[in-house]
Amino acid sequence: MNDNTAIRVENLSKSFGDGDSFIEVIKDASFTINRGELVALIAPSGGGKTTLLMMIGCVEEPVSGQIWIGNEKVFDNKWLTKETRKIRREKIGFIFQAHYLIPFLNIINNLLLLPQANKTDKKTAKAKARELLKYFDIADKEKAMPSQLSGGQNQRVAIARALINDPRIILADEPTAALDMQRSVDVVKILKKIALEQEVAIVMVTHDERMLPYCDRIMKIEDKAIIFK
Ligand SMILES: Nc1ncnc2c1ncn2[C@@H]1O[C@H](COP(=O)(O)OP(=O)(O)OP(=O)(O)O)[C@@H](O)[C@H]1O
Ligand SMILES: [Mg+2]
Repeated sequence: MNDNTAIRVENLSKSFGDGDSFIEVIKDASFTINRGELVALIAPSGGGKTTLLMMIGCVEEPVSGQIWIGNEKVFDNKWLTKETRKIRREKIGFIFQAHYLIPFLNIINNLLLLPQANKTDKKTAKAKARELLKYFDIADKEKAMPSQLSGGQNQRVAIARALINDPRIILADEPTAALDMQRSVDVVKILKKIALEQEVAIVMVTHDERMLPYCDRIMKIEDKAIIFK
């Protein structure tokens, strides 16, 4: 493992249920993802993409295996910390298919939710939020409500929200599914730029093959195993 490693997974396995309802989703997966990389994660529906993303994100508990976030080992057949939430808050940003902005908070207050939970200094957080809104070309929307923004603008706010705590890892589950082709390409290009400029590792689930050329690597779940194409 080198300093560039953002995510490392060894022999990770995950199943759900037991008896008749037993289903094995991931079996003995091992891979490394580096900072600065945008990696596409593909598989058919039900193939285990969200499950894998949520295990890396310390949300879903694997059955067995090991996970490192940066150089910190967080899972070794069990969580090595009681505070998986702390790891999530400090090191990982999440972006989902729907933007999940809070409808009754304006844009800047949506961005300030996580820093507040982390007890980040308010002035610092606000300055960072404004810098991000500017970066994403929506500085003038600071006081607007999510319902007043377009789908693409809201998704940019959601990406800004994922970046507000300078995470080392961003996990995106179909971030472009609700967008048209042009907006999708815009969002993926932004993710690529962020990965490079901020040395963040980004794993992006996508169903859209047209997004793959913009990604550095393509990770596929096939027969419960991880392969790189
Ligand atoms: N909490 C759960 N309990 C039982 N089975 C689950 C649970 N979560 C996921 N599964 C099963 O695990 C498999 C993988 O689901 P997952 O959501 O990871 O697929 P996916 O690749 O993200 O699919 P999609 O493209 O439709 O989002 C599916 O068969 C699903 O039914
Ligand atoms: Mg899914």
